[in-house]
Parts: sequence; structure tokens; C-alpha cells
Amino acid sequence: MGVSKKILVIPGDGIGQEVTAWGKKVLETIAVNFNHTFTFDEGIMGHVAIEATGDPLPAETLDKARASDAILFGAIGHAKYDNDPTAKVRPEQGLLKIRKELGLYANLRPIKLFDDLLQASSIKPEILQGADILFFRELTGDVYFGEKLRSEDRATASDLMIYHKYEVERIARKAFEAARTRRKKLCSVDKANVLEASRLWREVVQEIAKEFPDVETEHMFIDNAAMQLIKDPKRFDVVVTGNLFGDILTDEASQIAGSMGMLASASVGDRVGFYEPIHGSAHDIAGKGIANPLASILSAALLLDISFGLKDESQRVIRAVDATLRQGYRTMDIANKHTANDMLLGTDAMGAQVLKNLN
Ligand code: IPM
Ligand code: MG
Repeated sequence: MGVSKKILVIPGDGIGQEVTAWGKKVLETIAVNFNHTFTFDEGIMGHVAIEATGDPLPAETLDKARASDAILFGAIGHAKYDNDPTAKVRPEQGLLKIRKELGLYANLRPIKLFDDLLQASSIKPEILQGADILFFRELTGDVYFGEKLRSEDRATASDLMIYHKYEVERIARKAFEAARTRRKKLCSVDKANVLEASRLWREVVQEIAKEFPDVETEHMFIDNAAMQLIKDPKRFDVVVTGNLFGDILTDEASQIAGSMGMLASASVGDRVGFYEPIHGSAHDIAGKGIANPLASILSAALLLDISFGLKDESQRVIRAVDATLRQGYRTMDIANKHTANDMLLGTDAMGAQVLKNLN
């Protein structure tokens, strides 16, 4: 028996428009092949929403999100805001608000290298081979959501790094539970040698660890973690960390998967799941048709698995991506700089190749 689900697609800004079209097509193909009924709706968010309504997250989009079973999102941001720190309204506010409003406190970022991409990373193959890390980035707290202040003379500014015990508890539990189903190792990353918020973080993680005696727990400072990640990525299994450290570490970790264009993420929490590539809107290449659609396609795979419990369907998508890479097809970001064997494709041709391998 097939399932019947409502999916909201929010392409967002820049290359989000181009790549999300392929995540959606993959979901449509899976629905047909496995007799499921997926009903799609579309919403606006980010720069496109500011242009259309003045609001980076219009109420209509939020209502549609609440009424859906899962959300597939593209990317957010526009170059014109990056060099304008005084802008009152920013595209990113839309993404932060939807994360908060939907209670998406756990951001899962799986880092796994497809065998055929060993050469795509700037890290040595022998360091990379076999690395398999699952990041749990806390997503609705920290310095991202703490009070922001600017003095009257505008010469002083601050962002409050704040965590509550319950926020650390719930993300830690999710991470420990995941570690149980994997290699049973959890590394919690903080800066407890300096920050009070990190000392609370460590205290709470140590407490939760007692509920999971079968999981080997270690605590690492963020600066050391950033170094270890490149030096020996294989030493990590599940990593749990706060919002800001997680944002930075996962961009770094994308190099372990070859490219930012390969990394998908799932944000979960109270109810509906939200799926997005970890890459941004990449305005430098937007509209050129050369962006890598695989992160969006892999986000669709995460959606099938985590929100709908469709494990076989999710694996089918991952296998289709794997097959496409084995055939030698590459987008620009994952092309092998050392050999000429790769067949370089644009966004649409790459997406079409994955669809072909799905059938
Ligand atoms: C991410 C992004 C966002 C973040 C930006 C676009 C607000 O970098 O999802 O990693 O910092 O969380
Ligand atoms: Mg980021």
C-alpha cells in the first residue's frame, strides 16, 4: 500500500531554484515507481519573498509549511545583502524564523564520501576513505537566537550566546540514540574551557551520557575538533554540537564528502521535517545551469527516510546517485582535476541522469 503525503517545496534564492527542481522530480519519480501519492505545493522564502512581499517569510509560506508532512527547501541569500551590513530585512531571517517557528531544533548532516569522489576533495584519499560522520547541529538556540544589541552610537555590538538545559538535553538524546544505531561513538564539541554556555552544554551532555552506557562519549574543544576533522576524519562517528560551531564545522566537513554540492541535511524537531542542501544560494553561479543538483536529490532521500519512513525508496535514490557517479558523470564542483575521464554535465543533464538511474 502506498502512502499519501503533502510536500511543500520552497526553492528559495539563487541556485536553490535550479537544484530544488531536481529534488522534486526525484520525489515525483519515486511516487510513481512505488505507488505513493505525493501532493506538492510551493512557497516563497528569502530574497525572492522580500522582493514579492517585503517579508523574507510570508505568513502564507509558514501556514503552508505547518499544513505539510515534509518540506524540501533550496537555498537562501543574495549577494546584495552580503556587503550591506546595515540592511534591516535580510533573506536569512526567513530561514531562521521558519526553523524557530517549526521547532526544528535538530539539524542532521550526514558526511559520507561516495567511492567515486575520492579524487574530488582536496584532502588525501587515504585520509578520507571510510570516513562516515553524522553531525547533530543544534538549530534553534545559541548566538543565532540570543539577544542582539547595538549601542546608541553604533560603535559597540553584541550577540548573546545562550543555551537552556532542555535545549541541550533534547539534541543530546537524539544524537546518542543515533550513535546507538551506528558505531556507538559520540563526540560532543564545545568551548568549555572558555564559555559558560559551553560549560552548561558539557554538564548536560555528561548527564545524558549516563543513560547511554553502551555509547563511548568524548568531549572535544571546537578548535581541536576543527583540526581533527581534517587530520583524521575516520575517528568520528556521531558529533553533537551547538548552532554556531555546527554551522562552521559542517562546511569544513563538506570537504570530506568531496564538495558542498554533495551535502544534504535534515532538520527535525517537534513535528514536520525540513530538508535542504547545506550549500547556499551561490549567486556567482546562479542562472548558469552548472550547479550540482545532488545535494537537493540527497535531501529528498533523507526526506523519504526520516519523515515518511520509506527506507527502500530512500536507498533507491542514494543508489541512483552512486550509479550516476560511477558512470563518470560530474558537475563542475566535483570534476576530477587530475584526469580527463569525467563527463562534465550541467544541472539539468546531471539531474536527468539520476532520474534515468532511478528507473
Ligand atoms: C546553513 C546556513 C545558514 C546558517 C545561513 C544561510 C543562515 O549557513 O544552513 O548552514 O547559518 O544556519
Ligand atoms: Mg552554514
